[in-house]
Amino acid sequence: MKILPRLSIGKLQPKYPLMQGGMAIRVSMGELAGAVAREGGIGLIAGSGMGHEELKTEIKKARSIANGGIVGINTMVAASDFLSLMKTAAEAGIDALIAGAGFSRDIFDIGRSHGIPVVPIVSSDRVAVLSEKLGASAVVVEGSEAGGHLGTDRPARDIFPEVKAAVKIPVLLAGGIIDQKDIVEAYEMGADGVQVGTRFAASFEANVEKPFHDTYLKAKKGDVFRVMSPVGLWGNALRTAFVDKVERGEARIADCVRCLKKCSRRFCIIQALIEARSGNLDKGLVFAGEHVYRIGKIMSVRDIFEMFFKGLEYRD
Ligand SMILES: Cc1cc2nc3c(=O)[nH]c(=O)nc-3n(C[C@H](O)[C@H](O)[C@H](O)COP(=O)(O)O)c2cc1C
Repeated sequence: MKILPRLSIGKLQPKYPLMQGGMAIRVSMGELAGAVAREGGIGLIAGSGMGHEELKTEIKKARSIANGGIVGINTMVAASDFLSLMKTAAEAGIDALIAGAGFSRDIFDIGRSHGIPVVPIVSSDRVAVLSEKLGASAVVVEGSEAGGHLGTDRPARDIFPEVKAAVKIPVLLAGGIIDQKDIVEAYEMGADGVQVGTRFAASFEANVEKPFHDTYLKAKKGDVFRVMSPVGLWGNALRTAFVDKVERGEARIADCVRCLKKCSRRFCIIQALIEARSGNLDKGLVFAGEHVYRIGKIMSVRDIFEMFFKGLEYRD
């Protein structure tokens, strides 16, 4: 079967047309990003909620694992320190800048001045066209199936053809990629690559404690629900005791570090994500894609790559 497209994002050419989605807070760190890069994908460190020194340390860690592979950073545009974290990563020699949860024009200046490709995450052809005009090297189309914050209530498979028809730069598809069948379907639709979150959150290299993984493994079809994040976007998450508190209005913020440009203060998203990865589910929000019920088991990054790509060959 010849199916894999060759993905080029600016000067970057990963062995496999796959980017691991950035996952905050501290879910995709140096260990996960480095392992994905080593296996031939693009590994992303999630910068949101991290300090600058911590970020530099994680970039070094990823590099030490990556064996020359491609390591990028993802930060939420909604974060107050979005631009400064991206600058720090650029100065530390990161390979790619990925902007999620919002749209930024300023990120293109950082990309241009450091010669680093910029890849916005988009949910419409309109924003994809604007991204291309401003100098994006590729876009990720993320739909309503995806884990984390959402920019749309439409599935990626509906939006993808519209974006693909509207731009010339590579278009990656994000949302609901769990096994090889999903990979093949995405490439048959014309995707230049895929971005995968939930399947990699359920890897040994993800920086999460056992209760987080157990929540994934227990999830049944339909368990993922939409929560209104203080960022002002809906997000896909699994139900925890904390979510009940949010819904009863009992999770309002006491101490605020103004981590977001705008915050509804309904609850502290940064703290809730940190608690989730640390395994404190009574205080934590577990982000997950709608297809999390298909995860089945926690796997190593190496085994995930083997499961995704074994037997597939490049399109001629
Ligand atoms: C735990 C978790 C945290 C996430 N955090 C971020 C983030 O910080 N920034 C971002 O742009 N996307 C984030 N996402 C979205 C992923 O990068 C990716 O696009 C999405 O998970 C793809 O859908 P899938 O989970 O169905 O594979 C997160 C997803 C998960 C599951």
